[in-house]
Parts: sequence; structure tokens; C-alpha cells
Amino acid sequence: MTALIKRAGRADIDVLAAIHSTAFSHGDAWSRDVFNLQLAMPNVFGLIHQDGGLIVMRQAADEADVLTLAVVPAARRSGIANTLLREATDIAAGRGVQTVFLEVSTTNSAARALYTKLGFSRVGLRRLYYSDRSDALVLRLDLKSTP
Ligand SMILES: CC(C)(COP(=O)(O)OP(=O)(O)OC[C@H]1O[C@@H](n2cnc3c(N)ncnc32)[C@H](O)[C@@H]1OP(=O)(O)O)[C@@H](O)C(=O)NCCC(=O)NCCS
Repeated sequence: MTALIKRAGRADIDVLAAIHSTAFSHGDAWSRDVFNLQLAMPNVFGLIHQDGGLIVMRQAADEADVLTLAVVPAARRSGIANTLLREATDIAAGRGVQTVFLEVSTTNSAARALYTKLGFSRVGLRRLYYSDRSDALVLRLDLKSTP
């Protein structure tokens, strides 16, 4: 793992919530309690990038879901999300995960471009999924075919 990334633990909860609040609107940002609850689950892990990014992933058997991914606005387009996703999928692959899923708003062009670049493909659509009533694309990445 690159020295800029570490596993997120209870001591990082304030930083995680602060990063998330810069990346998502008030109603969609995860609180400290949500991070605490998620990271306490045995099948959930988080990574934190020291320049201002985070990812949280949940494993279920040989599948995993990206629960959230965020980079602070000032640090975007410097490869942080790309690095976090690659590290998280490497960890998941090491635990036997073969397929990673996530949801992304149809309106989120930045995230959609990122996931396309990493090889995710569309497998479903959830209508009116988000609080702004936008639809969610369900994307899938087969780790054996990761570029
Ligand atoms: C989406 C997000 C996580 C991307 O983080 P980032 O660190 O800026 O992304 P990276 O620098 O790793 O970008 C990697 C690639 O993704 C694509 N990409 C990222 N942001 C983009 C943008 N705004 N427009 C177009 N393509 C973009 C590009 O292909 C980019 O490679 P390049 O910079 O060499 O062209 C960040 O914009 C963010 O936190 N957004 C708000 C929260 C969010 O939407 N989370 C995802 C929810 S599903």
C-alpha cells in the first residue's frame, strides 16, 4: 500500500466525516455516527488518503460494494480516487472478492468517467435512487479483468 494511504480506524472518524462533508451535500454526507457504525462491521473496511480522500467497501463472500468514495474538492484530478479504488480492490481481491459493484448517479459525470476508466460496466439502473431524485446506475467490475 502506498505510504499516502492507510486503513481507516476509529481514530480517523473526525477526519473521515470532515472529508465526506466537503464532497457531498449536507443531507448526503455521512455523519461521525455513520462512519463509526460502518467501520465497526467485520465485513467493512475503509481507506483514507492523507491528501484528502476516503473509500469504504463492504464484502459479502466473493462480491464487494463500494459504499462511498470521496475526495476533497481542492485535491481532485490528482489521481486520489483512482489510487484509493485500486488499493481497495487489491485488498478485496486478496480476500477472495471477484466482483465489485457500486451505484453512481446518472448526473455524476466525474465519478462516471472515473469508473469507466477503471473498467466498470453498467449492469442495472435504479430509478429515483438519490435524494435529488436522480437515477443510479449499477456498475460492476470483474477483478480478473481489471486493466
Ligand atoms: C468522483 C471523485 C471521487 C473523483 O475523485 P478524483 O480524485 O478527483 O479522481 P481522480 O483524480 O482519481 O480521477 C481519475 C480519472 O477519473 C476521471 N475524472 C475524475 N474527475 C473527473 C471530472 N471532473 N471530469 C471528467 N473526468 C473525471 C478522469 O478520467 C480522471 O483521469 P485524468 O485526471 O487523468 O483525466 C470526486 O470528484 C468526488 O469526491 N466527487 C464527489 C463525491 C462523489 O461523487 N463520489 C462518488 C460517488 S459514486
